[in-house]
Amino acid sequence: MNKELSREERTDALGGMGCKRKRVEDARFTQGKGNYVDDIKLPGMLHGDFVRSPYAHARVVSINTDAAMALDGVIAVLTAADLAPLGLHWMPTLAGDKQMVLADGKVLFQGQEVAFVVAKDRYIAADAVELVEVEYEELPVLTDPFAALESDVVLREDLDPTADGAHGPRKHHNHIFTWEVGEKDATEQVLDEADVVAEEMVYYHRTHPCPLETCGCVASMDKVNGKLTLHGTFQAPHAIRTVVSLISGIEEHNIRVISPDIGGGFGNKVGAYPGYVCSVVASIVTGVPVKWVEDRMENLMTTAFARDYWMKGKISATKEGKITGLWCHTTADHGGFDACADPTKFPAGFMNICTGSYDIPTAYLAVDGVYTNKAPGGVSYRCSFRVTEAAYFIERMIEVLAIELNMDAAELRRINFIRKDQFPYQSALGWEYDSGDYHTAWDKALKAVDYDGLRAEQAQRVEDFKAGKTRKLMGIGLTHFTEIVGAGPVKNCDILGLGMFDSCEIRIHPTGSAIARLGTISQGQGHATTFAQILATEIGLPADSITIEEGDTDTAPYGLGTYGSRSTPVAGAATAMAGRKIRAKAQMIAAYLLEVHDDDVEFDVDRFVVKGAPEKFKTMKEIAFAAYNQAIPGIEPGLEAVSYYDPPNMTYPFGAYICVMDIDVDTGETDIRRFYALDDCGTRINPMIIEGQVHGGLTEALAVALGQEIAYDDMGNVKTGTLMDFFLPTAWEVPNYETDHTVTPSPHHPIGAKGVGESPHVGGVPCFSNAVNDAFRAFGLRHTHMPHDHWRIWKTANDLGLHG
Ligand code: CDP
Repeated sequence: MNKELSREERTDALGGMGCKRKRVEDARFTQGKGNYVDDIKLPGMLHGDFVRSPYAHARVVSINTDAAMALDGVIAVLTAADLAPLGLHWMPTLAGDKQMVLADGKVLFQGQEVAFVVAKDRYIAADAVELVEVEYEELPVLTDPFAALESDVVLREDLDPTADGAHGPRKHHNHIFTWEVGEKDATEQVLDEADVVAEEMVYYHRTHPCPLETCGCVASMDKVNGKLTLHGTFQAPHAIRTVVSLISGIEEHNIRVISPDIGGGFGNKVGAYPGYVCSVVASIVTGVPVKWVEDRMENLMTTAFARDYWMKGKISATKEGKITGLWCHTTADHGGFDACADPTKFPAGFMNICTGSYDIPTAYLAVDGVYTNKAPGGVSYRCSFRVTEAAYFIERMIEVLAIELNMDAAELRRINFIRKDQFPYQSALGWEYDSGDYHTAWDKALKAVDYDGLRAEQAQRVEDFKAGKTRKLMGIGLTHFTEIVGAGPVKNCDILGLGMFDSCEIRIHPTGSAIARLGTISQGQGHATTFAQILATEIGLPADSITIEEGDTDTAPYGLGTYGSRSTPVAGAATAMAGRKIRAKAQMIAAYLLEVHDDDVEFDVDRFVVKGAPEKFKTMKEIAFAAYNQAIPGIEPGLEAVSYYDPPNMTYPFGAYICVMDIDVDTGETDIRRFYALDDCGTRINPMIIEGQVHGGLTEALAVALGQEIAYDDMGNVKTGTLMDFFLPTAWEVPNYETDHTVTPSPHHPIGAKGVGESPHVGGVPCFSNAVNDAFRAFGLRHTHMPHDHWRIWKTANDLGLHG
């Protein structure tokens, strides 16, 4: 007979929450067994490729497809004229605007889709693209949003300039919306009366999520059965199904959307792209499957940019350093079409979290969205709807205020943190922060790096530099960020009218193993590992016996997908709640089997035991079997549950980051000597996965802060459209990260967990940038714009007269 395991051993055997369970998905990824969109090959499949505009703003005078059609192997060349009778030459965007699927009379950004070639293979399609003759008439180009708001040039000729846009009145023909939050007059009065006001223009440059796998899809229309199957790189498969149904008129039950393995998303795969629409139309027209997969240049130049926010800020304080007010006006460059992926009520995302970790009594934020001749589709690149812009803004403003006050920036933060006893905290710009303990995290971080010692070393370095003993300066980057993740309460957050709840459906099999299906979709975050851990703890079956499945709309319950670190706060909560429903039924079954009242049994790790008689129990495995083979009066057979979870609030993870950087004044090179990252994401499901998320997020933060940029010239040409020019860090550039944590559970989440995937990016960018700025503080620098590549750093040093 088996020895009875101790409670601790039984807990360990489950592999539940809190343990460093190895990633179950890695077996297939590391052995080349992943199944990505480009791995999908269907019988008779054709290949699509785009003719794209070389101009950023031009009229399309004519398109001649004869030569392309004459090429052997070309099946069709679609233009807007072909899509117009179907009403598909324009499509709705996620932001309530509309976007050309194929150029309808003009183009508004370089790389815009002009025609879609369908051919027998990808190479023929690419050759045919070259044969399509398009006559363009160039128009004046506007790449600067401030100039666009002054210009007579009308970018969106399809819009009535006097009519309201999706988010209210428009002030100019190139204006999209104004979004205001907070109290304007009160904030201006506070600023007028303040002891000290610091003012700065903080530009967060345009960049791109650049996942390793580009965007793509395979559309397959089965005309006999009227069924459309769409495999694609979708971060929100159900939303895509609904959108495809609304656009195409195909009934939703006849559409199956499948997100197979996805090679990174970071926001890039949230939106709908012309490639999806054209592939569907081409499959309907030809009756065979059509694949479209972008190349790297197309991905960088045309899909979902990030940031491009000009944030003009004013922050006021008493002379002792207590912040009294924050004012921000943002000019948001949204490109040729407003295709930003934000919840409907938030046209600039959650930018109104820009009061950050600080108790700021009065604040005002206004955002003006502007059309320019740049690619559309602003997304929250590894952040929750513009939180990284907000965090960068406030963390730079704090540094500038510290300079104005001639105060230590760590101390200024400490004076102004929201105190632990103030939670739940109502921010001046409308959010209710659920929980936090910022002072504890901050003190732990400063102690871990010996902050006072670092400042002393830095002061000495400045002396040595002035004395000509060194050409290297030292920067200490500080950041305390607060994220807002888990969109979201349905009352606040929807995308295209779809409420942002999420879901989990669990089926326990008779032998005590299970499958759980969720409305989210992993793009590398390890959901198959961690969601099984939540269930293991909730229902007492081993995580290894639980399969997690996502991404197939025919089987998964409806959900809004994975982005904005919403999976754990929303779908993770749904998973726990569905698990609890299973447990509630299991309790009744156990009581029946043990011949006691329901209330006389209690859950204990992997079993229900009779209260006061722990030797009398039924394991969850036994209960699962009984659910299928015992006729229990008043209880249906089977053991299944589903939960659709509408969170009562967002979750507010936070973190304290410190970066120590040496900067070579003569070459502009940076050397990150130390990076300490303390994250608090509430209850930790899998510490190893969290650490991986932090490493990845910090690396993308390093990229953005130190070089990654989508840059345009004055003619609207993308100057960074290849990975030769667009900085993607490798192991060579990445420093060693020291990770740490505190645990402040979310009071409203069923397991107390907050999201984590994006925190390191949100906190990392200002931390790296603050380090660069801080290195030059002693020489009179207030603020210099990102990305801090070697040339810009060299120029900063030069402008400050440090080159002699
Ligand atoms: O929505 P997304 O998956 O991108 O972000 P997330 O909810 O922050 O989760 C990223 C990964 O970290 C998932 O595998 C989570 O289950 C895991 N995680 C965790 O182990 N503990 C937390 N408190 C939060 C996330």
